[in-house]
Amino acid sequence: MMILRNCVFFFVAAALVYSKPIQNVDLAAVNTFLTNLAASDVRTDSLVTLNYQNMASKKSPDHDNAKDPLFTTVDKSVLGSNAYITIANLMPFFNYDSDTAVPTSADYASAVKDFLDNFIASDAVKQAWTFLQAQGVSTSDPIDFRQQLYNLWFLPYARNQALGSCGFKSVFVGEATGTVVNRFANWVGFYIQENAGKFNYHGWFTKLNGIAIDLQFVAGSDEDLETSFLLNSSPTFEFAAYTVAALTNTQPSILIQGEEIDIQAPTLSVNKATVLDKVVISFGSSSKATTKHAGSGTTKHNGGSTDAALQTLVDKMWGDDQDRPSATQVTMNWGEHISGKTGTKGANLFTTVDESIFTKKQYADLITTYTQDLFTADVCKAEPAMGGFRKQYLQGVFNTFTATPMFASAFAYLQSINYKETSNLTNFKTKVLWPLWFGTYTRCKGPLGSSGWEHVFSGEIKSNEVDGQHDWVRYYTEQKADKMVYDGYYTHDENLIGTFQYKWNGALKPKGGFFTGTSPAFDFSILSVCALAHGNGGNCHFKVTNYPITVTSYLQDCGDGSGTCLATAYPG
Ligand SMILES: *[C@@H]1O[C@H](CO)[C@@H](O)[C@H](O)[C@H]1NC(C)=O
Repeated sequence: MMILRNCVFFFVAAALVYSKPIQNVDLAAVNTFLTNLAASDVRTDSLVTLNYQNMASKKSPDHDNAKDPLFTTVDKSVLGSNAYITIANLMPFFNYDSDTAVPTSADYASAVKDFLDNFIASDAVKQAWTFLQAQGVSTSDPIDFRQQLYNLWFLPYARNQALGSCGFKSVFVGEATGTVVNRFANWVGFYIQENAGKFNYHGWFTKLNGIAIDLQFVAGSDEDLETSFLLNSSPTFEFAAYTVAALTNTQPSILIQGEEIDIQAPTLSVNKATVLDKVVISFGSSSKATTKHAGSGTTKHNGGSTDAALQTLVDKMWGDDQDRPSATQVTMNWGEHISGKTGTKGANLFTTVDESIFTKKQYADLITTYTQDLFTADVCKAEPAMGGFRKQYLQGVFNTFTATPMFASAFAYLQSINYKETSNLTNFKTKVLWPLWFGTYTRCKGPLGSSGWEHVFSGEIKSNEVDGQHDWVRYYTEQKADKMVYDGYYTHDENLIGTFQYKWNGALKPKGGFFTGTSPAFDFSILSVCALAHGNGGNCHFKVTNYPITVTSYLQDCGDGSGTCLATAYPG
């Protein structure tokens, strides 16, 4: 008996082999196909209400830092869709344990059939099939293709002895080894089980609001320490996308709502059939997480550094910018090279500025907002209401910046990556760009004392240090008003950009920086693009006149409920 068990174990273990890379599949074609597929996805953004609550704890995974469910409501039209129903009907057949065989009953087979009938008939899977044929990994025979999907998602296989695993279970239900859930990747599966009282959300680690989340949850007596999944993507899109990644044996990096998402869908060979091991999605800083599901720590995130279209955009914006100062209009004195907080008062950063440049509309409108003193720098004091003259001045400069050719190119770029709400400029300005820059939030446990615009174009003060302030015109006008003490620089590229230390109204900026050789509308345009399309850290890379530039940016929920706000964005 002992011998027999060992033989079985040996046989099964030997049969589970990771699939070899498929030659001749073009990763760029996979990325493009899936990015386009995502763009045509019928998403549920307006039909699902999420409640992220607090961050989860890596140190104490037992802590429930989110007392309410992640999903507050899911609209009836979603719950009534066939895709949703066929997933929900399959759920009760499974448990999480990888050592408990998946069912074999006729009822289960019938639920699997309904699921496959429904998904195979979807546009997303039809398009995926066409693409897979072009890549030479599927045939045009519908019976073959159905078998391929069945194997990938439903053929039971054993990680140990019991035939306790299949692709569907690992993605939509959750699979546990011992008491640790180490495979799970779908929001509909999460909602169904949360709603049934089986999953308890513990909080998030990173998130792209409404697009993807990296979180922690408990499933009965089992625990998932960290997992990521997409939000609001349709199940047919996800099924199609993961099928394509699995069958092409690639690790695609795709854009969803302008955000870069990496997909891993490793497969195993089981008696010559290709089965799905698991799906791992990663994005932004979650890609760098090392405590993710076992085996997923090797994800490489290219962070947009290879975005040729972004460089094309920057080159065009640079070429179109008629408003930046010429070398003779602005002269500078970078002063002493410093390291650490060692600087002593030096000469002014700006030696001369030919103020005729300020008659150009974008400068005139910006400077009006400065002379009108529209922001409260102290982060612990709420900003004034957005109305009356204040709104008029801010709307004025916002409209002027967005009417420049630099911004027109930036908007075209966001449209080209299918960034949300970019069907027309008016809509984008209202729904995305205004909240991004003018929505308010708190940096001081309560008062709505900050906005992206205040942070970048005006500057804030927190605990007697300067926070933000990334615009040369702001610095110069404050220098002229005798409010700036310049200490010295850390780095600079000619007079294009630099980092330095200074004091503003007595508050220290230990290390700050901005473009000194661009127009403010150029800055506004590129910072908007970087924050929206390559955000979550220092992920936006390009060159300006051959100097490599990185824009670091972060987004956060606005505290006033207006949408997604800019926490910061600065070049360096
Ligand atoms: C702009 O787009 C929005 C949202 O798609 C739409 O409601 C609006 O009618 C569009 N406006 C114009 C002028 O096309």
